[in-house]
Amino acid sequence: MKILHLSDLHFPTRIPIFQLKGKMIVGYLNYTLRRKKKYPLQIWRSILSSVEELDPDSIVISGDITNVSHESEFKEAGKLLSELPKKKVFYIPGNHDRYTQDAVGKNAFYEKYFSDLSGESVSTNDDYIRIKKIENIHFVGWDSSLPLSILDAYGNVRPDIVSRTLTILDEKKIRNYILVCHHPIWNPPHRQETSHHKLINREEIASLLKRKPPIAFLHGHVHTNWVKFPGEELPYYVINSASSTRIADSRHECGFHLIELNGRDLKIKRYTYQLEQSKFTEAPLVSYWEKE
Ligand SMILES: [Fe+2]
Ligand SMILES: [Fe+2]
Repeated sequence: MKILHLSDLHFPTRIPIFQLKGKMIVGYLNYTLRRKKKYPLQIWRSILSSVEELDPDSIVISGDITNVSHESEFKEAGKLLSELPKKKVFYIPGNHDRYTQDAVGKNAFYEKYFSDLSGESVSTNDDYIRIKKIENIHFVGWDSSLPLSILDAYGNVRPDIVSRTLTILDEKKIRNYILVCHHPIWNPPHRQETSHHKLINREEIASLLKRKPPIAFLHGHVHTNWVKFPGEELPYYVINSASSTRIADSRHECGFHLIELNGRDLKIKRYTYQLEQSKFTEAPLVSYWEKE
């Protein structure tokens, strides 16, 4: 079973300024001025070539498909992503896909365009708990993002959602699962996040997950790549593949991971984007032990 993990695609879309309101205006201006050129579509085309070459059995995208959650961004992203084989994909939303109050709930654009690509809702209420079985592995998706002020991008997964997920997995007799969540549950010491950016109750989530740990926790949000090996506190791999479509600089690596799964054993390869060759090539893994 080969899993291709992509994240934080932040597809560039032109939006007429008069169609924006509130927080979206500031967010969009900031994006156009500072970030838009950093996400050329050429990198996406190179990802599609890699997909063909690497032939994964499943493709996970751990959020931040858009920038300010405008409908035209979801439409455009939907067109680009339609090149991927539908049966193999598993998406979850990121904070940029839940940018405003309108981007949350049953009628949100994420739900309109990507719900059927995000697995089956297994929650009895409106809470976001999604599961999709691809071949012999179950992917579990959480939505850690909330619409916040322009200065905030922190995440939260309520403890009852964690407990309920584990109960559902017990009921369905699912033992081996991969958990996908936009915000990291662990960061390397030199890439710690502020309380404005991190998963605020991550210790609580990690403690609850100990009852039935996933094989791996796939995430994005911090735009660079890393892998943490299973440890005492978090007995699973933590894998960050953000951003797969952003031109690299000293703080941000552009890459993705290919995860080969054999039972609970993982072989992980990292690929980074080579600007001069317009292609992804294998690169050394950036890996850590829990207590570094
Ligand atoms: Fe992002
Ligand atoms: Fe994010």
